Amino acid sequence: MSTVALVPAAGRGERLGFGMPKAFVPVRGTALLAHAVRGLLDAGCVRHVVVAAPPAEVAATRLLLEAAGLPALVVAGGADRTASVGLALRHALQVIPDTRVVLVHDAARAFTPASVIQAVVTAVEAGARAVIPVLPMADTVKQVDAAGAVLATPDRACLRVVQTPQGFDAATLVAAYALADSATDDAGLVEKLGIAVTTVPGHPYAMKVTTPFDLAIAEAVLAAQEGQ
Ligand code: C5P
Repeated sequence: MSTVALVPAAGRGERLGFGMPKAFVPVRGTALLAHAVRGLLDAGCVRHVVVAAPPAEVAATRLLLEAAGLPALVVAGGADRTASVGLALRHALQVIPDTRVVLVHDAARAFTPASVIQAVVTAVEAGARAVIPVLPMADTVKQVDAAGAVLATPDRACLRVVQTPQGFDAATLVAAYALADSATDDAGLVEKLGIAVTTVPGHPYAMKVTTPFDLAIAEAVLAAQEGQ
């Protein structure tokens, strides 16, 4: 029985402003995607990695991962994140038929500690159908209308920031993607099936690199990890 990680990395990454897909943006000389795939393989509980790359960059992505010595399958991604994960999932099930646990991990969360990856896999192996890493909210959050007027203030104590990898038993994720719906995270699709989603503690290092500010933080995170 295999644990497979799907890595959606097909975004254009325009908010980073590097003029290249975000997955290829270097952090201390190595592409974000290579950091992410290495983190998954080094966690010791992931057997296969399937990357969804920008369709025009599939060959370049294969070269990049080969050059880094990282064994991973690469497929062309889709128009949005959900489509990219769906394509990677279909490929994984075709070529790795004994897939039992599936992780979905954003390439942009390249510095997620092994302990978070291991906790998600352990929880799925223990019987949870869907597991997400979360952190408490530091900020108060407001619900607003289209004009920006405040509608409500949800109780911060009941809110969590959601990270990846999100983990699923394979049948649950297949059923969620059969909905042909979309959500901003994979657990959101599972929730639409009425299936319970459980949480494990996330980590600040599992931050998503989206803006130039995040990239500066990521450089510092990597420096700290390399110094450990
Ligand atoms: O844009 P955002 O940072 O929210 O994207 C989250 C992840 O989804 C990124 O790793 C990005 O590369 C990926 N993505 C994808 N296919 C798309 C759009 C985004 O795999 N069409």
